[in-house]
Amino acid sequence: MPPVDFRDRKCLAIVLAAGESSRMRSARPKVLHNLAGRSMLAHVLTSLKDAGTDQIVVVVGPQHDAAVAEAKAVICDAEIAIQSERLGTAHAVLAARKAIARGYDDLLVVFGDTPLVRPETFTKMREALAAGENAVAVLGFETKQPAGYGRLILENGVLTAIREDRDAAEAERNIGICNAGLMALDGSRALMLLEAIGNANNQREFYLTDIVAVARSRGLNVAAAIAAEDEVLGVNDRAQLAAAEAILQKRLRAKVMREGATLIDPSSVTLSFDTVLGRDVIVEPHVVFGPGVKIGSGSLVRSFSHLEGAAVGENTVIGPFARLRPGAALSQDVHIGNFVEIKASEVGAGAKINHLSYIGNASVGAKTNIGAGTITCNYNGFAKFSTMIGAHAFIGSHSTLIAPVAVGDGAYVGAGTVVTKDIPPDALALGRRDQIEKPGWAKAFREKNRK
Ligand code: UD1
Ligand code: MG
Repeated sequence: MPPVDFRDRKCLAIVLAAGESSRMRSARPKVLHNLAGRSMLAHVLTSLKDAGTDQIVVVVGPQHDAAVAEAKAVICDAEIAIQSERLGTAHAVLAARKAIARGYDDLLVVFGDTPLVRPETFTKMREALAAGENAVAVLGFETKQPAGYGRLILENGVLTAIREDRDAAEAERNIGICNAGLMALDGSRALMLLEAIGNANNQREFYLTDIVAVARSRGLNVAAAIAAEDEVLGVNDRAQLAAAEAILQKRLRAKVMREGATLIDPSSVTLSFDTVLGRDVIVEPHVVFGPGVKIGSGSLVRSFSHLEGAAVGENTVIGPFARLRPGAALSQDVHIGNFVEIKASEVGAGAKINHLSYIGNASVGAKTNIGAGTITCNYNGFAKFSTMIGAHAFIGSHSTLIAPVAVGDGAYVGAGTVVTKDIPPDALALGRRDQIEKPGWAKAFREKNRK
């Protein structure tokens, strides 16, 4: 079969996302539940874009403003179609009737709740459609757990119908080839076929799956492409959400390891869709990477650290038990130790913040040492203020820096100081009471109290 040149074929993708999320038992639309740090809908839209589709319509329910906002945030020119009554998947596709009627060569109908499909698989569906003048190409998969899925009914290897689980006869329930739900449709015949679908079934819904029988009854060709089971998992409840997360995490871990990072215990590391680990980064067990983390090569992330929205330079050590929050920007050779939290702060090359500190809305210069228990007081209950600490400075343990405040290059802050005024470069600031001593007091105290 000669390869199909998709540059000549315009493709419209229709993403069905109007489901009510009833099996999720959630106040949020199902497609806005997250996997690896972003919504299922965002995963689907990005994969479609990567597959080279020309236009995307997202079908949402009437009160789904949040889903609309998410779709627009991911694909700014995504069209929105509203399905005002939830009458089934075929009815949902017809909510995009106006876009379909503009005339596309291929339609890809995909589900917002099937978030793991790779771009190559969308292409495979379009290839299956193009091979043999097919009106419909469905995506199937083999599984040992077919319950809940529609079954592909094949007669002598030819697809004749899809039977929904609820409507299937006992014998049909044993069929292990299932419907992933997604379809490629011939754009010129799609509307005619969709409009012919009825709702004479257990749920009184207009099932997209019936398009196969409708096409066959009109003598049109129908094909099936087969996908790997782990790509087409449909997320209808929280258990399936967790299963999808597990599959995605496996993929993401394999990717960062391929790119040269060591995960000592991969299954205990949680990644985000956009985590970037440089070469020779080592991640110890039990680390969580939220969205937006980039780690430079040669760095070590020690156990029980939590990072999100953070950029880390080369040869830096984070943790154990460190927290990097959004806006943490660490240069190279930095050491961040246990129970240290860094937020919206820059930390210069070679700086050390090794124990029990909070650094927020601050900048810490190169080679500066921040002692144990240092706190930047950045918030007065209403606004945030910044703390500027120069290079080669030394902040003694248990210092409190009340922002806005600046510590000059090379300055020293004595342990236990409450810094309320700017400190000039190379100065010593001490802000604590002189020590009082009473010789013999303790001994006398003990004797007085001893019986
Ligand atoms: C669907 C398929 C089933 C397949 C399974 C794979 C149909 C009739 N059934 O079943 O054969 O094995 O997916 O996961 O297509 N939606 C709307 N409007 C509606 C109804 C659904 O937008 O009126 C959307 C949902 O948000 C969801 C998708 O369509 O993203 C699929 O709907 P869902 O109810 O999850 O169908 P399944 O029962 O999973
Ligand atoms: Mg589903």
